[in-house]
Amino acid sequence: MKITLTVNNTKHEVEINPSEFLLDVLRRLNYMSVKKGCDTGTCGVCTVLMDGKPVLSCSVLAASADGHEITTVEGLKDDPEYKKFTEALLAQGADQCGFCSPGLILSVYAMKKELKNPTEEEMKEYLVGNLCRCTGYASQMRAIKQFFEVKA
Ligand code: FES
Repeated sequence: MKITLTVNNTKHEVEINPSEFLLDVLRRLNYMSVKKGCDTGTCGVCTVLMDGKPVLSCSVLAASADGHEITTVEGLKDDPEYKKFTEALLAQGADQCGFCSPGLILSVYAMKKELKNPTEEEMKEYLVGNLCRCTGYASQMRAIKQFFEVKA
């Protein structure tokens, strides 16, 4: 079947298998920031934004993304918020191996749009689906607080 995906403001007409997941289609289209980790909806490294909301692309059928706007981290590269958060990740030593970074960046980006002045608990709850295989959660939280301009 043929679907239309708009990825980072670029329209793609793409032939898919009806059982194919969005993750595999995005990687086939060369959006390589979208990582494949557990492939079972647990780790969050495949997170992308669909119409501005974080989704696990390994668990979304590509067919159900037909006609929707998808954002991968490549699409944020000129966004000042992206620059500000990636600088915070580097400043806090939270870049680590980088495998979970694209998914985390997209989730934090969406959280900033959705929640005004979240508490640390609310941040943790929002990001519960974004696992880090280096277990660098403390440095990530410092970076997130820096990004949100939360005082220590
Ligand atoms: Fe999708 Fe792990 S690869 S949640």
